[in-house]
Amino acid sequence: MNDVIENAKNHFEKLVREQLNRIENLKKGADWIDYTTLKPIIIGVAGGDGIGPEITKHAEEILNFLLKEEIENGKVEFRDIEGLTIENRANLMKAIPDESLEQLKKCHVILKGPTHTPSSADLASGKWPNLESANVSMRRELDLFANVRPVKIPEQQIDWIFFRENTEGAYVLGSKGIRVTDDLAFDFCVHTKQGTDRILRLAFDYAKKTGVNRVSLVTKANVVKTTDGMYLNMAKEIAKNEYPEVKFDDWYIDIMAAKLIDPARQSEFKVFVAPNLYGDIITDEAAQIQGSVGTAGSANIGKRYAMFEAIHGTAPRMVETGRIKYADPTSIIKASAMLLNHIGFVEKAKRLEMALDICAIYEKKLKVTGRDTGAKGEDYAKYIMEALQDPNLEKKWNSYQK
Ligand code: IPM
Ligand code: MG
Repeated sequence: MNDVIENAKNHFEKLVREQLNRIENLKKGADWIDYTTLKPIIIGVAGGDGIGPEITKHAEEILNFLLKEEIENGKVEFRDIEGLTIENRANLMKAIPDESLEQLKKCHVILKGPTHTPSSADLASGKWPNLESANVSMRRELDLFANVRPVKIPEQQIDWIFFRENTEGAYVLGSKGIRVTDDLAFDFCVHTKQGTDRILRLAFDYAKKTGVNRVSLVTKANVVKTTDGMYLNMAKEIAKNEYPEVKFDDWYIDIMAAKLIDPARQSEFKVFVAPNLYGDIITDEAAQIQGSVGTAGSANIGKRYAMFEAIHGTAPRMVETGRIKYADPTSIIKASAMLLNHIGFVEKAKRLEMALDICAIYEKKLKVTGRDTGAKGEDYAKYIMEALQDPNLEKKWNSYQK
């Protein structure tokens, strides 16, 4: 019994030390990178697993088209990131192989397809070994602390943007829990003042800068009192002292999950901020409300690096049943628009968003269903490209706005 407790204490001590060290780095607070002065801005592309390489290829083509001039004059450079496949990761027993990480760190922004995380079924069958999610690992390694996920349904006046904390909470020690005895298991949830402060500020700044002036915090602070309680207290302080013009409200995750599907309330919400796990859950819910998880883009933002990805997974069932060609590239193309916007090509990003709206919401000449009942991803990407090339794109888009 004493041994067991001693082991648990040692394990916990190690974790506390690691986190205190991490805080020291956070306190140094690096400055935001300035893309306007960079030449070239290096965009790394990693297709990932399953349907990833196929949908990423379509997104890259669109980016190549939109950035043709910048590629030619050396302002932008594309690089393939190698080795970020489940086969290679399993072979090297690394969530992100060292060489891939080195390549990633030489880029400024990254476009990434979904990567496979071995499931419990994979482990039981021996198909893949136990590996940490490459997403979670990349977010931590590159300190991509903000996961930004917009969801828009114009006909229902829904225009949401989620700021999900991306490097702390239930995730940061997700692979470092303790199985104290056969009967007793612990996981940890970690929030730091620095980590909480920077995500809250990003959400409030966004609400203020865009004139939206509304922020909703999502926690479970009535039960998870210490960590979520810290979020709630800090958010209240920041709202009161620094953003008096922003209307602030706070919700528990359960009731927020319900309100998101309440037609009477949906359009009132604007900017959400949430710790990691709650943000993970409600962003899938929000994407489904928009149509499916295949339709939402996701930006992972840090001060030095940023990574843009599809919000969905690798779709192993589609691969098994030979439906890769029918995978919907919308999510990663949306992520590409977010990438363009983030590195300063605001007009190009807007055009791509307009083209996406026209194809997916207004005109809908093609529809991707994930099966042969719908369009192939390739044809859908061509459809978006045609919409982009239409000189009347903006006029057309405007005509659909009320
Ligand atoms: C997401 C995904 C990931 C997450 C998985 C793949 C680890 O669901 O990006 O939302 O939970 O963050
Ligand atoms: Mg998720």
